[in-house]
Amino acid sequence: MTAMIKNTLLIGLLGFIFFQCVGKDNNGQVALLDENSQEAQKLYLQYCSSCHGSTVEAFADRVWKHGKSATDIFQSIKKGYPNDGMPAFEGSLSEEQIHGLVDYIQTAITNIERYGIEDEVIESDTFKTELLTFSLDTIASGVGVPWGIGFLPDNELLITNRSGRLYRIDANGNKIEIGGVPDVHSSGQGGLLDVVIHPNFEANNWVYFAYSGIKRENGRTLSATTVSRCRLIGDQLTESKLVFEALPYADSRIHYGSRMVFDDQGYLYITAGDRGDTYGNPQNLKRGGGKIHRIRDDGSIPEDNPFYHIANAMKSIYSYGHRNPQGLTLNPFTNELWSTEHGPRGGDEINIIKSGANYGWPVITYGINYNGTIITDKTEQEGMEQPLHYWTPSIAPTNLAFVNSDKYGDWKGSLLVGSLRYRYLNRSVLVDNQVVGEELLVKNIGRLREVKMGPDGYIYIGVETGYVFRLMPIDGSDS
Ligand code: HEC
Repeated sequence: MTAMIKNTLLIGLLGFIFFQCVGKDNNGQVALLDENSQEAQKLYLQYCSSCHGSTVEAFADRVWKHGKSATDIFQSIKKGYPNDGMPAFEGSLSEEQIHGLVDYIQTAITNIERYGIEDEVIESDTFKTELLTFSLDTIASGVGVPWGIGFLPDNELLITNRSGRLYRIDANGNKIEIGGVPDVHSSGQGGLLDVVIHPNFEANNWVYFAYSGIKRENGRTLSATTVSRCRLIGDQLTESKLVFEALPYADSRIHYGSRMVFDDQGYLYITAGDRGDTYGNPQNLKRGGGKIHRIRDDGSIPEDNPFYHIANAMKSIYSYGHRNPQGLTLNPFTNELWSTEHGPRGGDEINIIKSGANYGWPVITYGINYNGTIITDKTEQEGMEQPLHYWTPSIAPTNLAFVNSDKYGDWKGSLLVGSLRYRYLNRSVLVDNQVVGEELLVKNIGRLREVKMGPDGYIYIGVETGYVFRLMPIDGSDS
């Protein structure tokens, strides 16, 4: 069956136009890129593209939240919105450089208004890769940002949507909205994030949700990475119980972490990001941010957790010194816990998570600040773990999964990681826990948010264009 993906903007053509000739003269004619815009383009690529995408026109085509007048854009760049993940650039860019960026962005806005921007229909029948050919089977569409996928018995699945909706996809492919979802703070990077199904779901119907939980205090809305356990009965969640909170609650709406996984002994691991509080959270064992936590399925804390007996430490902490780990999985071949983590600019990591270990943020890192300033000149220090692998420039890694079935031939044993920034699925070839090769799959599909192996042995991916797909090997390349 032909999978039709209607998602990619007509960036290719526009990109060509803009690369050749950003700017216009008084007659509305497109003029050659002048020196100032060349400088601005360089700044944009260096300082902005990691979050806003490499083509300024894709950024300029947004629904503007803070206004698109020159004054508004200038203010946005200068002061930033740190709680929402937009850094302030007043310390690292001169006013002249900021004015250059404002012109550059406004030219892109003008050009989009003039040339329009359309959906491109990709006839994505097949994707040829180094080792096999596959097609995409559409499991669900119209699911917004599908942050997490959980597999229920009988070929059903649950999909969380970041803005706070939860869908069940039944065996016939019908999409049913589930009621009773916990109250989430859907703002910035927050919302309804991961979902995991209890290993003994058939007996207890428990489902776990990681999300940005809300606390209202003196007119402020604060949030924290929280986990609730609910019973899924029919199309309704009931008996919701808060089982975890990464304290303290804060104004920030970034870096929630929020991936979860059960190990084979029934312990639940939860990633909590540093909430943007680089110096307050990750190295402080009294606080929940910048950690990976380990709890029992009822929220109680195992006595053999590494800091359980340390006075004042948060007893659920399993490892610390993390920035924003958004990927967590159990290596099916070794039973180790593997995690991906967003670095700052550069230094995205893959780590094997060990009890009590310190992963070093922000004391050591392979990245630098978004505004170009140095965080630390150290990449290693005694007592701190080295990543198994790191990506510079950042790919913005999301969840990870090991190919453990025989459906994909020699892909077996490969590690899959979603890239938000470059919109592809990364396949890493591992030998003795070293990444010895990488292949980029489903390029330009959209921000790839979730990847999981299904119980049927197939790879499932969630893309921020609102789709969940299954990768189906095509006859002849299947083993
Ligand atoms: C670390 C990620 C990151 C980087 C780097 C970054 N931004 Fe942003 N930017 C954001 C986020 C997230 C928002 C949305 C903030 C909000 O929701 O209020 C934003 C918002 C903005 C806005 C306001 C948009 C609106 O809707 O009103 C402008 C303008 C902007 N960014 C320009 C830039 C420019 C120019 C650069 C480079 C100098 C840059 N940004 C670098 C993350 C980033």
